[in-house]
Amino acid sequence: MKKDIDNRVDIIVLVDTFYQNVAVNKQIGPIFTDIAKVDWSHHLPKMYDFWESILFGKAIYKGNPMLSHFALNERTPLQHEQFETWKNLFFQNVDDLFEGPNAELIKQKAQSIADLMHFKINSPPSKIKIV
Ligand code: HEM
Repeated sequence: MKKDIDNRVDIIVLVDTFYQNVAVNKQIGPIFTDIAKVDWSHHLPKMYDFWESILFGKAIYKGNPMLSHFALNERTPLQHEQFETWKNLFFQNVDDLFEGPNAELIKQKAQSIADLMHFKINSPPSKIKIV
């Protein structure tokens, strides 16, 4: 029986494992390593804060993920395929390491944020017309 995601230490384990897998993934790895040239020592702690804020309601993450990904999409397309790969890796990672209500909740949150991000990236304001 696996444990649930209960605290920041669990989030650190999840995030570290996830980005180790992301970095070597053929579809989205190069976006991080070659295009954004991510500084992992900076990115990983930001992601611990992000998920701790989302999962445990602690307002410790300061940032705007939408803006970061709009900017990234200008440099390399973030489309259905990239989001599906991201989500599948994330879900697989959660299921490999944890189980329980918070493990289910973090997958739901990831799914809805990813879907919203994908939608917003593909709906620039100029294309939205409310008549
Ligand atoms: C196509 C899928 C995705 C790709 C390729 C991607 C890639 C990236 C990259 C390259 C960065 C910048 C890292 C840096 O320069 O330091 C970043 C930042 C970030 N990503 Fe994603 N991402 C994806 C989806 C998501 C999703 C679905 C979420 C949330 C559920 C997310 C959350 C974040 C957050 C919170 C940051 C930090 C933003 C900041 O405060 O600077 N990403 N992502």
